[in-house]
Amino acid sequence: MREKEGQGEKAMDRVIIFDTTLRDGEQSPGFSMNAMEKLEMARQLARLNVDVIEAGFPISSEEDFEATREVAKQVGTLAGAPAICGLSRVGLGDIDRCWEAVKYATKPRIHTFVATSDIHLKYKLRKSRAEVLKASVEAVRHARGYCQDVEFSPEDASRSDFDYMCDVLEACVDAGARTINIPDTVGYAIPREWGERIARIQERLKRHAGAYVLSVHCHNDLGQAVANSLTGVMNGARQVECTINGIGERAGNASLEELVMALHTRKDYFGADTRVKTEEIFRTSRLLSHITGVHVQPNKAIVGENAFAHEAGIHQDGVLKEKLTYEIMKPEDIGRPSNKLVLGKHSGRHALAARLKDLGLDLAGGDLDRAFKAFKDLADRKKEVYDEDLIAIVTDEATQTDAVYQLEYLHVISGTGVIPSATVKLKKDGESYQDSGVGDGPVDAALAAIDAITGLKGRLQDYAIRAATSGKDALGEVAVKVDFDGTLVSGKGSSTDVIEASARAYLSALNRMLRSGQRTKDAGGV
Ligand code: KIV
Ligand code: ZN
Repeated sequence: MREKEGQGEKAMDRVIIFDTTLRDGEQSPGFSMNAMEKLEMARQLARLNVDVIEAGFPISSEEDFEATREVAKQVGTLAGAPAICGLSRVGLGDIDRCWEAVKYATKPRIHTFVATSDIHLKYKLRKSRAEVLKASVEAVRHARGYCQDVEFSPEDASRSDFDYMCDVLEACVDAGARTINIPDTVGYAIPREWGERIARIQERLKRHAGAYVLSVHCHNDLGQAVANSLTGVMNGARQVECTINGIGERAGNASLEELVMALHTRKDYFGADTRVKTEEIFRTSRLLSHITGVHVQPNKAIVGENAFAHEAGIHQDGVLKEKLTYEIMKPEDIGRPSNKLVLGKHSGRHALAARLKDLGLDLAGGDLDRAFKAFKDLADRKKEVYDEDLIAIVTDEATQTDAVYQLEYLHVISGTGVIPSATVKLKKDGESYQDSGVGDGPVDAALAAIDAITGLKGRLQDYAIRAATSGKDALGEVAVKVDFDGTLVSGKGSSTDVIEASARAYLSALNRMLRSGQRTKDAGGV
């Protein structure tokens, strides 16, 4: 089932981009998203033009069920929407639940999986090979009773007995699976070996050639996820499963932006490309880090802060003379803002709306009102407002909507020889509440004042701060992870005042915790 694209000199094979940021990515600690956040991310993934969004694991919790269903209803029905997929174990009840969530999408997909390695069969499932084979076939048949688009994955494929795994795969294609996804669940594979395995699977399944799409799903435990996925493509895989910023179980999944840009930049080598709108990559990456409160490491390929920064004199000299000397991609290719001065204190609502539109943030109505207010506040404090600032404040505002508590006022006293203290006023349901606190430092004091108002005690597990742009008046972006009575939640906030940014980040974590409630997920061995 290879799809050829383009009428150019050489027709390109198309690689299907299956994004699992909202499922595999979301299930790792510190990255959980509530339904509203998943929806926002899903809308952006649709703009990015991925082919499939795996929106959740509906049986794992009521909240994940609802989130998957809302993504199917609200994103999966847009014109040209991606397929919306839900994950399910091979149990028939799991599949029923998964279908209930994805059935609203124009293109629903059920993804069912079971482990096929002896290690998993013996210690986790306590089932025989024959039992697992039978359950797989029944699951695929059951799913096909609901929809055409059924995917099957043999979990821990890289450590599964090859012949047995292929028996299961053949039986699943016979039963109607249209995508066969080969996961390197534990990130154990090495590129050449993995490529050979992918080639051998097609050889074993050759009587079914054309009846299924072969997919790869690689984890990054040995840092090989992207390399393994690309060797998969070189050996005939035509779907890759990946996540924005490479988030996912343990060391993460293959990173979407790296895969897409490798295929795009080196299509001469791979002879394959994707449908992804690469200019949306940077915005998608930033939105994810705003929602989850986790910054991207500066040297991260494609989307890291330094990915396009040439520091060494000899490099700078080369780039000034001719960009081709050191640049294999252009920042514009991934929609990275130019960081030039864009707006100032006197700029109006129209100018802001137009600039945001250029940045791909098409806001109107209440969203634009909130963005405009945030922009004016920022322009009062900071003379020059850059593209990066706009992206930071708009995504910050978007993730603060529906906030239970909002920051109204913050006053901090701190300095050498003074016990740091803070007074905070928060708004909740139209009422204002004020209290104060002292602490080891100004941030600690501000958070203590917030705790005094809310009556909740969060323990700061992680705190990171960075400047959104250069300059002394740069907007500070703070990312936190807070433990509220055993529930770990992330939050992010930005302001030119880093204490305020810290209070905002803490509040955004608190609000997320309050909105989503206690959430327990049955990982189901995924
Ligand atoms: O890593 C894995 O094996 C998975 C499967 C559910 C595809 O995430
Ligand atoms: Zn996985």
